[in-house]
Amino acid sequence: MDLEAGRAYPFLGRGSGPPLIISRAEGCFLFTGDGRRILDAAGGAIVANIGHGREEVAEVARRALLEASYVVPPFATESRVKLVSRLRTSWLPAGLSRIMFASGGSEAVDLALRIARQHFVSRGEATRWKVIGRELSYHGTTLATLAVGGHEKRRAGFEPLLIPHPKAPACYPLRCTWCRDRGQCTLACADALEEIIAREGAPTIAAVIAEPVVGSTAGALVPPAGYWPRLAEICRRHGILLIADEVMTGFGRTGRRFAVEHWGVTPDLLVAGKGLSGGYAPIAGVFASEAVVEPIVARGDDVMFYTYSAHPASCAIADKVLEILEREKLVQRAEVLGARLAERLSGLRGHPHVAETRGLGLLHAVELVRGREKLDPFPPHFRVCARVVMAGLRHGVFFYPGGGAPAPDVLCMGPPFVIEPSEIDHLVEVLGKAIDEAVA
Ligand SMILES: Cc1ncc(COP(=O)(O)O)c(C=O)c1O
Repeated sequence: MDLEAGRAYPFLGRGSGPPLIISRAEGCFLFTGDGRRILDAAGGAIVANIGHGREEVAEVARRALLEASYVVPPFATESRVKLVSRLRTSWLPAGLSRIMFASGGSEAVDLALRIARQHFVSRGEATRWKVIGRELSYHGTTLATLAVGGHEKRRAGFEPLLIPHPKAPACYPLRCTWCRDRGQCTLACADALEEIIAREGAPTIAAVIAEPVVGSTAGALVPPAGYWPRLAEICRRHGILLIADEVMTGFGRTGRRFAVEHWGVTPDLLVAGKGLSGGYAPIAGVFASEAVVEPIVARGDDVMFYTYSAHPASCAIADKVLEILEREKLVQRAEVLGARLAERLSGLRGHPHVAETRGLGLLHAVELVRGREKLDPFPPHFRVCARVVMAGLRHGVFFYPGGGAPAPDVLCMGPPFVIEPSEIDHLVEVLGKAIDEAVA
């Protein structure tokens, strides 16, 4: 590759330094233009679930492109029908049988919001339009998904363009202020949803949207076991649709097909992206219950597609990726190796700048603080996460930076499910070293 051209590639020029130049990727590793090997501990942006460079996926893509390069989304093709039927028979929670595709997570969440709204318009309940999101959450970068999200840094400056949807509190056990005086978790943060519904009026609310395990905004925040059942119960009682945003957690990342399965909850709409194709194609899906779709069909209303919804090659790729996950039992592997990752990370808990290590399956994070006692963050100009990422890269491991106030500095890990146990040990060892070097 022309290195000079590589340096000129980023949209915002060279202000943030030249990009890392990657010449190829295979299994759990990225290879740089200058011949270095980097362990992809983040699977890209927590995407590459089956690992990089699978020949059989490339083969399927080639065949699909030759068969039909593009077909308008409402028409059926072999690859679309195959994927939909695999999803229905082997993957989706019982009850979520309606499927529509988009090209990425933001588009898919946007589509889920439209479907939720259309459901109520078609039912003759047009007063229901608000979508309750949560603080410390991320649902995408379109204006609608930023509006329901709670990622303050990514929303900053765009507020005049964002419809002010209500926000429920985050479920954040480490910094919980809801149950502190009660001596134990009472799920008061979930119950706060009741107060918001009472304040806004249930007949104005279409949906509640939440990530079952919060991704990079807060770093693999796992709620207590009762949290999701409580959310689902409150929504059901008020006739509000529950949308689970599993763009990051779906398709095995947490050691179950979908994270909501950990708590026996089936949402009305489930959105999943990244893992659906493991990064081999831009595709995401919205999975809805019959009850959500029924009034839309009954009134003869429509839900507009995107030009690239259900692209034939993307569908063929996703079908192959799911087949590989099944054949190699990779979801089970994510659960087993996730336990190892959690155990190894727990060794960092005594570190003076590690507030917490947490996660589920192969989605984990480390939250960094200046002092553990007060959980006060590093000053922003210190850019501690960027320092850790740079130190990690120097040692040949890529960690995914994240965070949002009050936890501005988290490092996320989401390696491919094919990672070896010894590579997990290695990445944790490097993480400890990288944190030490960053704060030195
Ligand atoms: C939970 C969640 N929702 C939505 C998105 C947006 O997806 P995309 O970047 O594919 O548009 C992400 C991306 O990280 C995510 O983690």
